[in-house]
Amino acid sequence: MDRSRIRNFSIIAHIDHGKSTLADRLLETTGALTDREKTNQFLDKLDLERERGITIKAQAVRLKYRADDGKDYILNLIDTPGHVDFSYEVSRSLAACEGGLLVVDASQGVEAQTLANVYLAIDQNLEVFPVLNKIDLPGAEPARIKEEIEEIIGLDASDAVEASAKEGIGIHEILEAIVAKVPAPAGDADAPLKALIFDSWYDSYQGVIMLVRIFDGTLKKGEKIHLMASGRSYEVLKIGAFTPHPVEMPEMAAGEVGFIIAGIKVLQDAKVGDTITHLNRCADKPLAGFQEVKPMVYSGLYPIDSGDYDALRDAMEKLRLNDASFSFEPENSLALGFGFRCGFLGLLHMEIIQERLEREFNMELITTAPTVRYRVITTKGEELVVDSANKLPDVQYIDRILEPFILASVHVPNDYVGGVLALCEEKRGIQREIKYLTSNRVMVIYELPLNEIVLDFYDRLKTVSRGYASLDYEFLDYRPSDLVRLNIMVNGEVVDALSLIVHRDKSQLRGRELVSKMKEFIPRQQYEVAVQAAIGNKVVARANVKALRKDVTAKCYGGDITRKRKLLEKQKEGKKRMKQVGNVELPQEAFLAILKVK
Ligand code: GTP
Repeated sequence: MDRSRIRNFSIIAHIDHGKSTLADRLLETTGALTDREKTNQFLDKLDLERERGITIKAQAVRLKYRADDGKDYILNLIDTPGHVDFSYEVSRSLAACEGGLLVVDASQGVEAQTLANVYLAIDQNLEVFPVLNKIDLPGAEPARIKEEIEEIIGLDASDAVEASAKEGIGIHEILEAIVAKVPAPAGDADAPLKALIFDSWYDSYQGVIMLVRIFDGTLKKGEKIHLMASGRSYEVLKIGAFTPHPVEMPEMAAGEVGFIIAGIKVLQDAKVGDTITHLNRCADKPLAGFQEVKPMVYSGLYPIDSGDYDALRDAMEKLRLNDASFSFEPENSLALGFGFRCGFLGLLHMEIIQERLEREFNMELITTAPTVRYRVITTKGEELVVDSANKLPDVQYIDRILEPFILASVHVPNDYVGGVLALCEEKRGIQREIKYLTSNRVMVIYELPLNEIVLDFYDRLKTVSRGYASLDYEFLDYRPSDLVRLNIMVNGEVVDALSLIVHRDKSQLRGRELVSKMKEFIPRQQYEVAVQAAIGNKVVARANVKALRKDVTAKCYGGDITRKRKLLEKQKEGKKRMKQVGNVELPQEAFLAILKVK
């Protein structure tokens, strides 16, 4: 394969600006799809496609294109996931490319959420060029949007292609621009092998499938490979590319993109970002940028019906097969019974897993408020890792507690900078830098404690910037901090699932807010219920949920027995989504009350 004829690129776009439609057009125009496949969006099928016993994830598609210069080119379209929790995966996918197509809806303009990925691409020295999509719409304003791209992002948009993925306008020009603007890959096909894993997944027939970009060297079927970060060695069983149909190839050389199957049984052995080299001719050092992805956010997941415990564990095991960054271990709570403590990359990842458990596996769950991992040094000098308030030792045994800090970069238009700064200060942030990127675009950089981010930072950021701020963050370090355990008591009993680790300066306020929120969520019972917040033995806030005055059945006039029964039935239904704690019933909302306070 002649490297000068390869182009590796990705499409960067905001949701709904037409990425999938455009990708399908590119496939169609280059003859990659059959007539039947043209009718439905091929690349948008999240349901994993099964064909010839292999799962296709259209994360990297190889297209053949004869350009106007009469030469044949191979265009590798590499897709990227689109959220801050997955920014590491995005960065690895972008690292496999030399160029990026920035697709902007010509009737909408640049959207904040696109920016984080554009900057990731620019930081990695990708050649990024804009395409204005949806010019068929009456509201399209290509001239204004070009100005906006230059103003906000600082990219030259003077010769941006004007296209309509829907109508098939400008597709030829886009393909020509890819050939002309995206640099051909560099690399040495004779050097020791260096291949980047930018995606991997588990297939029940083939084992783990890895998508790779070869930077140096040549890999042939049957050769022995070594994965430098995981330290494992395997034999290559299959090499190929998705066109989008899987096509096997005898070898793959520097500059090329494709899949490798090597009989790997667990996803954890084929980590995104790892470097593949030859076992007997090892590269001297791996490609830069590998990170061990570690869960950042933890929460408890409990079945509402304790009989579902085994089913929940089975469901979680299935999810973990294909998600190396999700972890769980058994945990039990006095209030909630047997369940699991789960680790996630971030809040969105947590929501995705919860939703999949509920939808795909029909689990009814109670989840506890998210927390981060603390490091606790005991008075005996031991170090403990604590991912839940209940694992925090009593105060007299604690020497100090360290909490994780992150470096947050917020891109925001000028007008909203004030709001963003106030929010970061409120969240115990330490200002690092404020950079003016263009006359209207600012980058605010703060060091922030992660525990302040996991609760509601992202939502608040969107509110103070009217949706225009984008957030990107990376882990920094652990720092000593004055943290305490805040307990919530219901009728004098500590509800362990509600305990929190908070900064001392905020504990009073948090306690008061929590107690008043809890009061709203706890339904009235036959007797008065006292809700208290306490640090150690000291009660910092209290509220009472008044007793029910009237008998519930009193509403039923005339003593109609069937009506009375119905009402009692209904009450029983309602109880299913409650957990009995001591003599009080608590609804799910009460366990997440912390997410509702500011
Ligand atoms: P996600 O898959 O949600 O990330 O969105 P996407 O960016 O892939 O957008 P998608 O291709 O699904 O397009 C979003 C909507 O815009 C769909 O209803 C498309 O039919 C429509 N659309 C895409 N391209 C064009 C275009 O050129 N003109 C018009 N009028 N509509 C378009």
